[in-house]
Amino acid sequence: MNYLKIFSPATVANVSCGFDALGLALETVGDTMTFTKTATKGVKITQITGADLPLDIQVNAAGVVVLAMLKKHPVDFGIDITIHKGYTPGSGLGSSAASAAGAAFGVNQLLGAIFSPLELTQFAMLGEEATCGTPIADNVSAAIYGGFTLVRSYEPLSIVKIPVPSELMVVAIHPQVEVKTKDAREVLPKEVPLKDAVTQWANVAGLISGLHSNDYQLIADSLTDIIVEPARKTLIPYFDLVKEEALKAGALGAGISGSGPTIFALCKGDKNAQEVYKSIEKAYQDKHIDFNMILSKINTEGIKILETN
Ligand code: HSE
Repeated sequence: MNYLKIFSPATVANVSCGFDALGLALETVGDTMTFTKTATKGVKITQITGADLPLDIQVNAAGVVVLAMLKKHPVDFGIDITIHKGYTPGSGLGSSAASAAGAAFGVNQLLGAIFSPLELTQFAMLGEEATCGTPIADNVSAAIYGGFTLVRSYEPLSIVKIPVPSELMVVAIHPQVEVKTKDAREVLPKEVPLKDAVTQWANVAGLISGLHSNDYQLIADSLTDIIVEPARKTLIPYFDLVKEEALKAGALGAGISGSGPTIFALCKGDKNAQEVYKSIEKAYQDKHIDFNMILSKINTEGIKILETN
């Protein structure tokens, strides 16, 4: 293979109760990236469209990932990369993760698919570290594996793919305010009372069990975050209002997508998702803050190859 074009999905990390441990991939939003083998050795990001990001491969999340891969597996050809950002960086929808995971996946194809999904996740985590200071795996694992993923352990890294009930849909609103992941991590509590920890890990277990058993009521009951959301929601204008409207319209649950500012809601079925979409949109309409709305199925496949030759 000398060339490939891929779609790397946006992702919702944490999914309320699973801070740094849970993620899910979206179907309708993501980056498009191309990878071309060249005769001259070296890696170049030749073009980035859709966002103002550095082309410098030592700094760009995708560049950092590819350099690490080629250090581990040197090759006698070069690689040119283009990135079209399908959504805004700093949205809380795993923008750096989409590029980092996409880079790991795309280059692996040019290398003859020598690395496993777990190894690709480890490489992609380096892109997250370069961008936000922490090698988080929740967004990148969801992009690489698709569907719902659980980072069961960071050391050693262990990723578990969780089944997705077929009617599960995501509605999200991205208010156009910037929340940097680094800043959103600084507001987090350093310690958690045992009572709260018990509530939180019971909800994670409930959510995973609900996903396995297609139990939408159990999913709804478990989509609660009493540790991270209270600390971060002040960074997101009208968070409580959006959540309230989403729940009133019948969403299973709503919360902060990753480190925000995007707010997501999980819904059962397209009809309910449309209703939740409309009520969130209406609630934000007169707030004098620009916003984008998203409605998506869960992308169970992860990164997709669009073209090769
Ligand atoms: N789990 C990470 C966080 C995701 O919430 O900080 C960052 O996108």
